[in-house]
Amino acid sequence: MNRIAVIGAGTMGLGIAQICGLAGFPTLLFDIADDALKSAADQIEKNLAKGIEKGKLREEEKSAALEKIEFTSDLNAVKADFIIEAIVENLEVKQKLFHQLERQNGAETIMASNTSSIPLTQIARGMKFPNRFIGMHFFNPAHIMKLVEVIRGASTDQETVNKTVSLSKGLGKTPVMAKDSPGFIVNRVARHFYVESLKILEEGVAPVEDIDALIRSTGFKMGPFELMDLIGVDTNFSVTESMFNSFYQDGKFRPSRIQKQKVDAGHHGRKSGKGFYDYS
Ligand code: NAI
Repeated sequence: MNRIAVIGAGTMGLGIAQICGLAGFPTLLFDIADDALKSAADQIEKNLAKGIEKGKLREEEKSAALEKIEFTSDLNAVKADFIIEAIVENLEVKQKLFHQLERQNGAETIMASNTSSIPLTQIARGMKFPNRFIGMHFFNPAHIMKLVEVIRGASTDQETVNKTVSLSKGLGKTPVMAKDSPGFIVNRVARHFYVESLKILEEGVAPVEDIDALIRSTGFKMGPFELMDLIGVDTNFSVTESMFNSFYQDGKFRPSRIQKQKVDAGHHGRKSGKGFYDYS
């Protein structure tokens, strides 16, 4: 593998680029926003420094990883053997990006999407090489969580599946195959964790802090609201909206108005300094 490109330097993209660099792959991290690239570089540095503090990483490994990662806001420069996309959870935006990437990459390049909820077969519509297209769904924080859902679209070929499984293992992850269905496995189950908690909040049954504390006390690492703040309230909302639409407006996936208002206000969680909690 000569080069991996990661598209989108937000919450997920930066962590994915970090593990690619750590595994020794020359890695190119692309974003349309220069400030996203800058904060991604800072956050990768911080994550690696924390790894050293915890005794999980040596100083030389940190330097070697940083040397492997390049940053760019020039889409034309994105040429790689394996491309992992982690941009906004929006079907049209993702399709447009992949069409562009196909114009400047060879037929051998594997293109993977980190989508949380959009069926891969839908994203692949109109692609020249849908056989080389696959889902590679990491979990947040990407540099810590071991699971990767590998999702085969209707046209994905076996070689692409094999290479994706092998790359996932090479990145220290545990790949699990999932069928191409909205939300795949984890997000489909987890949707109710968020949707039902938001309903409890809307009905005034309990405040955010109490719901989180209670859920934590049952053994969950995080309550639903702190987890939405970590994921990104906007991303979490888009995932629910996409699943609601994919399941033909099935009421059990109905997005919450409270969450929509947070999105409209720019209260996107930790990444914006405010969400259900204040991080300022
Ligand atoms: P984010 O909002 O933190 O970051 C998205 C980044 O993509 C931003 O830096 C933005 O500037 C950039 N971007 C937007 N449009 C672009 C384009 N056309 N070309 C290049 N860059 C573009 O989003 P996040 O949370 O990292 O999510 C990214 C993807 O990963 C989504 O598909 C999401 O569903 C998925 N995902 C998110 C998880 C989470 O916990 N946040 C977990 C697993 C998957």
